[in-house]
Amino acid sequence: MGFTMGLNLLLLVAMVATNILSLYHLSSNIQSKPPVAPPVPDHLLHQLQTIRATINHLTRLQPPAPPSAKAKKSTVTIPSDLLLYTHLSPIASSCKDNPDLLHQYMSYTPFSLCPSDSSVAESLILRGCHPLPRRRCFSRTPSSIPTSLPKTPFSTIPEKALLWNNYSCKSFSCLSQSNPNLGFDMKVEQSRFLDFKSDLDLPIPQFLQLTKTSKSVIRLALDIGGGTGTFAAQMKLHNVTVVTTTMNLGAPYSETVALRGLVPLHVPLQQRLPVFDGVLDLVRCGHAVNRWIPVTMMEFLLFDVDRVLRAGGYLWLDHFFSKRADLEKVFQPLIWKLNYKKVKWAVANKNDASGVKNGEVYLTALLQKPISR
Ligand SMILES: *[C@@H]1O[C@H](CO)[C@@H](O)[C@H](O)[C@H]1NC(C)=O
Ligand SMILES: *[C@@H]1O[C@H](CO)[C@@H](O)[C@H](O)[C@H]1NC(C)=O
Repeated sequence: MGFTMGLNLLLLVAMVATNILSLYHLSSNIQSKPPVAPPVPDHLLHQLQTIRATINHLTRLQPPAPPSAKAKKSTVTIPSDLLLYTHLSPIASSCKDNPDLLHQYMSYTPFSLCPSDSSVAESLILRGCHPLPRRRCFSRTPSSIPTSLPKTPFSTIPEKALLWNNYSCKSFSCLSQSNPNLGFDMKVEQSRFLDFKSDLDLPIPQFLQLTKTSKSVIRLALDIGGGTGTFAAQMKLHNVTVVTTTMNLGAPYSETVALRGLVPLHVPLQQRLPVFDGVLDLVRCGHAVNRWIPVTMMEFLLFDVDRVLRAGGYLWLDHFFSKRADLEKVFQPLIWKLNYKKVKWAVANKNDASGVKNGEVYLTALLQKPISR
């Protein structure tokens, strides 16, 4: 299980890397042109052309029909809903790189129950196909629904209110046994983000005290890669609203966040953050954001975080890890490009087996965006 999750994560990062590199490539092409703004931005034209090319490509694409099916269906090609949708509305240009998955996702019977294919959607999104095209089918739902509000965001989660059939674990106890740190054991979650065990920890009460001292009010935050939403849960107890981005990698993370009365955003790391400029008081980057992300992508991610933070807002890097030399030569200069005030900057050796083997360190940083530039 742990191995599968690790592999999933590795795959995710590889895909993110590919997508971001192509994005970066696109942007650096733009930068190398003269700085005169054209009336219609080139990249927009490029996107439109890509989408048009996708439609053309998909129109020509033949599904791999088994020989026995040939007699029955002689003219079946692309799901008609996909063709219709791509004419009506944009889908991500990288969808075109995965025509087979996209074909599989859009092969469904309209106006009936959707296939049990949430893992296909997940795979597409991780490959940069986001937004996905919409479909006209009814999503699958569990038959048991909770009848009362959770008392706290750490209350026992009703197991029957989730769809389990597409995961190798079919219960919370199975998930917790495979790895107690996945975020599904509420007894463990209850005390997370509260303890100070080393300098790498920034307990929430201490964080709130710091912000209070600098007369900086924290109302709204985004937790990137927040798993089951425990950071949001702890902050809710302080009346702070936190939105959590999470993916359903091998476990029902999104539904778990929702059942805790919190907001799950199904958004991959490479996605532009779905909020307007300057509206957030805090962005926290947890374990999902670390050295696996290519440097160019990290740069775009950090600048997007800067975009959504208000003046005086905070960026919190929690246990970011990399090789020590990379932190000094690559990531530290990258982070400092933002010109934020270093409220906290703690670096310490990563003492687990792979950390020791690779000479890795953890960084926990709390950085404050300047009031004016
Ligand atoms: C998901 O679950 C359904 C129903 O149990 C099953 O038919 C389908 O093959 C599963 N899909 C995957 C990818 O596990
Ligand atoms: C949160 O809000 C409730 C209701 O307004 C209030 O009773 C409670 O004291 C607040 N908690 C904190 C930690 O501010």
